[in-house]
Amino acid sequence: MSAAVIEVEDLVAAYDGNIVLDGISFAVHAQEIFVVLGGSGCGKSTLLRHLLGLHKPAAGHIRIFGTDITAVSEDELQPIRQRIGMVFQGAALFNSMTLAENVSLPLEEYTDYPPRVIQDIVDWKLQLVELAHARDYLPSQLSGGMKKRAAIARAMVMDPDMIFFDEHTTGLDPVMAAELDRTILRLRDQLKVTVVVVTHDMTSIRRIADRGIMIADGKIVAQGTIREMEQSSDARVVNFFMRHDEGARRRGAPAASISGRSIHGH
Ligand SMILES: Nc1ncnc2c1ncn2[C@@H]1O[C@H](COP(=O)(O)OP(=O)(O)OP(=O)(O)O)[C@@H](O)[C@H]1O
Ligand SMILES: [Mg+2]
Repeated sequence: MSAAVIEVEDLVAAYDGNIVLDGISFAVHAQEIFVVLGGSGCGKSTLLRHLLGLHKPAAGHIRIFGTDITAVSEDELQPIRQRIGMVFQGAALFNSMTLAENVSLPLEEYTDYPPRVIQDIVDWKLQLVELAHARDYLPSQLSGGMKKRAAIARAMVMDPDMIFFDEHTTGLDPVMAAELDRTILRLRDQLKVTVVVVTHDMTSIRRIADRGIMIADGKIVAQGTIREMEQSSDARVVNFFMRHDEGARRRGAPAASISGRSIHGH
């Protein structure tokens, strides 16, 4: 098995003394697509913020690429954070800038590459997410799925080793969600990035996840492959899968026929 790039050990996360995550431990390996499951408010976004070093844990340790980020200064954190791309729930593009300008922002901010080089990198990243044709569009001219892919291109522009997604398919129709999942699989396969995804979207989970954890009541209540998690007899886990698989079926995607990696190679 490849090396662990994220190691979380007995993490306790709290806001003003209210404990949200209570002693969580897991590891994510290089080039895995790792999914974080759990009901609304269980602490998934909180976990991502801790992994990015935006919040300090109340207790426990988080090692990213081998460095304990709970023990380093903000200055030492910066180079680690630059190796992580983050795709937030809203695509958060600047409306007055073209797609290419939006994607070039991190390069403008963090590098002193000449404009020609920046253009080449941006065009290559847009090609990866199949948006090369739309480089001069304004965000208002993009569909919801295109905006998400643009946000991925921007998160990828600094060549991160790892990319985090928070609810990546929310608000997308099933076709756009499938396209986005295909993009994520391609990034992992071609650019060898490690992916951490927070989502409730069962269809997407079954398409892309290698392994993951489910959080409830501040603890990990299931972990492993999706198949392993599904076999849990914990009522919270059983209910989660039942409810979300049912939701996926109602939206017109029969869960049973899309498990595994059938999307690969299309
Ligand atoms: N900045 C904050 N200050 C105080 N409490 C917070 C803050 N952010 C989150 N919380 C609380 O922490 C808990 C976990 O929130 P979090 O946003 O991590 O949940 P989540 O699993 O991402 O939920 P969702 O699926 O709805 O996005 C919630 O009870 C929330 O009210
Ligand atoms: Mg959240």
